[in-house]
Amino acid sequence: MIVVTTPTGNIGRLIAQNLLTSGAPVRVIARDPTCLTTELRDNCEVVPGSHGDAAVVNEAFKGAEAVFWLAPPDPKAASVMAAYVDFTRPAAMAIKERGVKRVVSITALGRSTPYALRAGYVTGSLAMDDMFLGTGVAFRGLACPSFMDNILRQVAAIRDQGKFYSPISGDLKLPSVATQDIAAVATRWLLDNKWTGHGEVPVLGPEDISFNDMAEIISDVLGARVSYQQISLEAYKARLLRFGMSDAMAQGMTDMAWAKDRGLDLGASRTAETGTPTSFRNWCEEKLVPAVLGQTESKAERQQG
Ligand SMILES: NC(=O)c1ccc[n+]([C@@H]2O[C@H](COP(=O)([O-])OP(=O)(O)OC[C@H]3O[C@@H](n4cnc5c(N)ncnc54)[C@H](OP(=O)(O)O)[C@@H]3O)[C@@H](O)[C@H]2O)c1
Repeated sequence: MIVVTTPTGNIGRLIAQNLLTSGAPVRVIARDPTCLTTELRDNCEVVPGSHGDAAVVNEAFKGAEAVFWLAPPDPKAASVMAAYVDFTRPAAMAIKERGVKRVVSITALGRSTPYALRAGYVTGSLAMDDMFLGTGVAFRGLACPSFMDNILRQVAAIRDQGKFYSPISGDLKLPSVATQDIAAVATRWLLDNKWTGHGEVPVLGPEDISFNDMAEIISDVLGARVSYQQISLEAYKARLLRFGMSDAMAQGMTDMAWAKDRGLDLGASRTAETGTPTSFRNWCEEKLVPAVLGQTESKAERQQG
């Protein structure tokens, strides 16, 4: 039995689907099972509840060989350690108690860099991995750079202003990865029952690319000029607070951006194993264009209404 957390999320949903397609028995943990796709609801065992809850994970991990773990982004958490480490503690205990053999988790790049301890969310995520290591379970942390999919949060700015924003230098080339590729890598590790020990698996995308490069590609694919604008760390944090994040989590995002701008994501080498196939151009064609057009249509529909 393979347990999948966040089966309604970008990565967890694809992993659960991939595992079902390969014929593996799948159990998902879902706060609201009505949000699962029909296929997942009909073909997986479903444990209702949050995977941050001790009773829920104790139930879900009974007889489980392997677990896919993702700490959900909690924009209102009291601290990044609360969001990652405290949220994960009940699962780490249940993994030991239930004798789960393998855990595959989503984490972040940066452990080998001087910025790992000052990198906000990433620092929390690496501390979460350390807690798993303390359980003795066989563990692989899929160490990811920023997701290409993060750009979807700026669809409205791209459509309405022809711009997207971040505090990271526009010319700095960084790895970036599509969530479907992370799901594919996680699926392979979850289906393989031979590995032991622990380690990080960098999941790096096919190339390093700057935000200015991304703007060129977005412009080309959309057929409309889109530019990247670097903003100050202060403006970035203020914007996150306006969106309702807690001060600690807004600071965590800001610290992470500070560290990424200094090379947090540049400590791992791209090889045949660590590179993944989806290019930023492919991702734009498949995900960004429909999102921009979809919003345009719904805005037009609203205006007609
Ligand atoms: N974004 C990046 O660039 C990046 C880079 C490296 C690593 N990461 C890591 O990737 C993870 C986030 O991935 P994502 O943004 O792609 O996730 P996501 O798709 O937004 O999925 C979030 C999932 O968490 C569930 N969830 C939310 N709050 C929950 C709670 N309190 N209890 C239980 N479940 C909850 C949601 O389910 P329901 O709401 O349906 O219950 C949903 O399935 C984080 O761990 C982050 O550190 C992100």
